[in-house]
Amino acid sequence: MADVQFDANAVRTALDTIKDPETGRSVVAMGQVSDISVSGGQVSLTLGLTTHSAPLWDDTIADTKQLLESKFPQATKVTVNHKVYDRRPEKIGEIGLTAKSVIAVGSGKGGVGKSTVASAIAYGLQRAGSVVGLVDADVYGPSIPQLLGVQQRPEIINNRIQPIEKDGLRVMSMGFLVPPGEAVVWRGPMLHGAITQFLRDTDWGDLDYLVIDMPPGTGDIALTLSQLLPLSGSVIVCTPQEVALLDAVKAIAMFRKVNIPILGMVENMSGFICPDNGKRYDIFGSGGAKQRAAEMDVPFLGEIPINVGIRVSGDKGQMSSVFEDETTAPCLQQLIQQLAKNLSTKVMEDPPLPNLTVL
Ligand SMILES: Nc1ncnc2c1ncn2[C@@H]1O[C@H](COP(=O)(O)OP(=O)(O)OP(=O)(O)O)[C@@H](O)[C@H]1O
Ligand SMILES: [Mg+2]
Repeated sequence: MADVQFDANAVRTALDTIKDPETGRSVVAMGQVSDISVSGGQVSLTLGLTTHSAPLWDDTIADTKQLLESKFPQATKVTVNHKVYDRRPEKIGEIGLTAKSVIAVGSGKGGVGKSTVASAIAYGLQRAGSVVGLVDADVYGPSIPQLLGVQQRPEIINNRIQPIEKDGLRVMSMGFLVPPGEAVVWRGPMLHGAITQFLRDTDWGDLDYLVIDMPPGTGDIALTLSQLLPLSGSVIVCTPQEVALLDAVKAIAMFRKVNIPILGMVENMSGFICPDNGKRYDIFGSGGAKQRAAEMDVPFLGEIPINVGIRVSGDKGQMSSVFEDETTAPCLQQLIQQLAKNLSTKVMEDPPLPNLTVL
């Protein structure tokens, strides 16, 4: 093979096809490649990325490495470092939240796994390196305290409620404010006031993501929340059987009505793999959500099978451990990756070009 030119310029030219995962533009054309060094067969460089979405960094870094290794077979070592442009989150919405993205996890139906999926998404994003808050907005049946195993009352500092730190997540739930076992009996306007106050008075700090576990249904609270919080998008959780799908369609209609992008649909409890014989049983059916998502022109994020481990982790208050389960972790990771991608493209449909001259 003829010797391929192997210097900083050749490396820069080779990288022209690598696109920023958020803007879809060439990282070379946008001046996002720096510190290229080629010496003694070793090449290293730094990629500047615009997205705050940690799950998207790894793919771009891996693609860049692979491209250089195939274009420059003489390279003995390829090192791709990355840095993220420091864009502080802006204060958004009526409640003055500082978050880069706000994701609501909802469904039309109760008991389909919203809280489970919301906490898995929060953990997944946080494990990938983002700063994440998780708010349990289910005022009637808050279950995040149970799923994460947190029970203490939050501290109040300067009249601001401090979210509880759990495994690196910032967590807030109405369940922290109401003694366990007691029912919340607020009605309409009082409830609206309580939710607004609870969201406004929480001291989240600067967040990359705020994940909201929505109450079931498409009632007033869900609608209030969708309007109160400046949502970047929503995730609809449903199970594959027809009754759940019917309600999921209503949830999609609700989010569309208030102009909130649907980031995707998740099919939870999709099939059960019997640990005894490895056979798959489709207890609630299978594939229904994927099909309905296609019919409704909504992206499909993935399936999560019924797994006793998920239920046990939730009951023990150790939701973080679902990422240690080798059957569940890969599908959750894939789902989160897809969610981050959809969020970047939805949010960037009309992209305000970031100022990249800082390099
Ligand atoms: N894929 C799964 N495999 C096994 N168990 C699951 C799965 N997803 C959820 N569960 C279990 O199902 C139960 C209900 O889940 P979860 O509380 O997340 O639902 P929900 O939609 O938030 O309910 P609600 O409408 O009451 O808020 C929990 O015990 C949870 O551990
Ligand atoms: Mg719930």
